[in-house]
Amino acid sequence: ESIETFIEGMPKAELHVHIEGTLEPELKFELAKRNSISLPYATVEEMRGAYDFDDLPSFLKIYYEGMSVLITEQDFYDLTYAYLEKAHAQNVLYAEIFFDPQAHTVRGVSYDTVIKGIRRAQLDARKNLNVDTRLIMCFLRDMSAESAMKTLELSLPYKDWIIGVGLDSDEAGNPPLKFAEVFKKAREEGYLLTMHCDVDQNNSVQHIWQTLNDIGVDRIDHGVNSLEDEALCAEIIKRKLALTVCPISNGYVTDSMKTPEIKKMLDKGMRVTVNSDDPAYFVGYMTENIVKTQQEANLSKNEVIQLTRNAFDGSWLPQAEKDKLH
Ligand code: HPA
Ligand code: ZN
Repeated sequence: ESIETFIEGMPKAELHVHIEGTLEPELKFELAKRNSISLPYATVEEMRGAYDFDDLPSFLKIYYEGMSVLITEQDFYDLTYAYLEKAHAQNVLYAEIFFDPQAHTVRGVSYDTVIKGIRRAQLDARKNLNVDTRLIMCFLRDMSAESAMKTLELSLPYKDWIIGVGLDSDEAGNPPLKFAEVFKKAREEGYLLTMHCDVDQNNSVQHIWQTLNDIGVDRIDHGVNSLEDEALCAEIIKRKLALTVCPISNGYVTDSMKTPEIKKMLDKGMRVTVNSDDPAYFVGYMTENIVKTQQEANLSKNEVIQLTRNAFDGSWLPQAEKDKLH
């Protein structure tokens, strides 16, 4: 059996995927038609051809534009169910899924519409596909802390449907500390906490320290630049925090897929995981991300298995549930 075949069949967990980033061009066209929205592209090929990004802001522009077709509860259902079918086909048994409510409420789509559509797809996928999922609500860090706080309040009636909160979008000038109060309140409400510390941002190391010392996160999304600071790595290891690295995504928005860094993290005993981030835009789901990592960093089968163990162990499932999955 080749290592690729092994990776394809291996049971997987995904901890870093933005549901809006799973919107494939085909579904984008279908939803545009259903909602009578005209798109500036005639074909799927033309749309993909316009996916022109080489850093985080240029990616985010296309990512937010793409969401304009998501209007009704059924749209969010279809989006989520399509991702979960794809995940199931790659033997993903468990996924923690980000959603960006503010990207929809600013367009006049209600919080309820978004979360109800996603939730219904989660329940159907659990039943029909045996894929187990949890939801993580992300705040957009390039919006104000007040807007994040309002969004947190909107989430409270749905607290039982959300396991934690995260922070995404443009990191430049938007450090973790900007949201200290919001995350403190989220913690008091019982949410687990994570934050994006995107790769090769200004002050990356300082931002990661803030997530530890000022926020008290339970996970770090990306966090590759922690390798620049030995004491920071030691603290992350001590706290057993998972890092959700997204190699194909990094290949687009930074100068490399950072696979040697993934290997370094494994060697140090950090709880590094491999994830897809925005698979419809970066063209690669879980299997493609793990295969690329294995090839580029020349990982052994045991190292590949360790990446997957880290994902199940670093997930936010209760221990008894983790034991059942692997
Ligand atoms: N970083 C920041 N914001 C995002 C990302 C990301 O990788 N994907 C979707 N929103
Ligand atoms: Zn992300």
